[in-house]
Amino acid sequence: MYKGILLAGGAGTRLYPLTSVLSKQLLPVYDKPMIYYPLSTLMLFGIKDILIISTAKDIPNIQRLLGDGSQMGINLAYKVQDAPNGIAEALILGREFVGRDDVCLILGDNIFYMGDQIGGFTSTVSDNPGAVICTYHVPDPQRFGVAQIEEDGLVTSLEEKPKLPKSNLAVTGLYFYKNDAIDKAQRLNPSARGELEITDLNLEYLKEGRLKAFRMVRGTAWLDAGTPDSLIDAALFVQMAEKRQGLKISCIEEIALNRGFISVLQFEKLVSSYKGQGNYKLYLERVLYERKRSA
Ligand code: TTP
Repeated sequence: MYKGILLAGGAGTRLYPLTSVLSKQLLPVYDKPMIYYPLSTLMLFGIKDILIISTAKDIPNIQRLLGDGSQMGINLAYKVQDAPNGIAEALILGREFVGRDDVCLILGDNIFYMGDQIGGFTSTVSDNPGAVICTYHVPDPQRFGVAQIEEDGLVTSLEEKPKLPKSNLAVTGLYFYKNDAIDKAQRLNPSARGELEITDLNLEYLKEGRLKAFRMVRGTAWLDAGTPDSLIDAALFVQMAEKRQGLKISCIEEIALNRGFISVLQFEKLVSSYKGQGNYKLYLERVLYERKRSA
């Protein structure tokens, strides 16, 4: 079984002054806070036990937004990261929460739009030899961690921001690890920039021949919203996709209903507790109407 860790700390310096008061992960991406997107990705994988890691300053706000998750049939726990010591530190901070389970780690500013491919991903993960990373074809791999993958999905090389990339497959901020990742993370040394690097952890699995990659196909989207331009690009993407189909991306209440985390009655109660008649609430009311009509 996988437990989830959503890493929503960091300094957000590239978005300053937007992030001088508010956490990056609470900034809007079109019609919902950024954190809804990675949270919904975990929920789509069927993960219900989730640890949200953020700064001492930001956790109270995130908690006000999402609470303990029970309204969506999930369990949310919170943990402070004292300083942005690196992505791999999430596994160390999550040790007690994860216990003996395996762990799915997602970055709080990563937006995945996978459609039906989520099923294929789930089956890759069910055959996890140690770690499964998620890759996405990009035009400018020099900016990312870059993976080379064999036919069967095993990773043969992994390089951080290479000058001469061996492929166009960037490593995204979504990782599935076996439980031994926690001990491995604990043994990592900080990099030159003083962080526990997630790439160093993945390289440990590569050395052992236990690193697999999932490849997102054409027509899917991976966006990170860490700069002013990528933030607005992400918002425009979500706006376009939602307007065209009349279906929302990463609507956590709808996912909770569709995944059977909550009943129709619980969903109805939740929706009626929302104030006003804004677009988001009207959408949820329509979801409810359509669900009842098809029952
Ligand atoms: P980054 O975008 O690498 O860092 P950042 O969010 O601090 O932003 P900036 O570079 O503009 O200063 O982080 C990626 C995600 O991981 C983001 O959601 C924040 C999170 N993160 C942590 O929670 N703790 C950390 O120690 C690091 C490095 C990142």
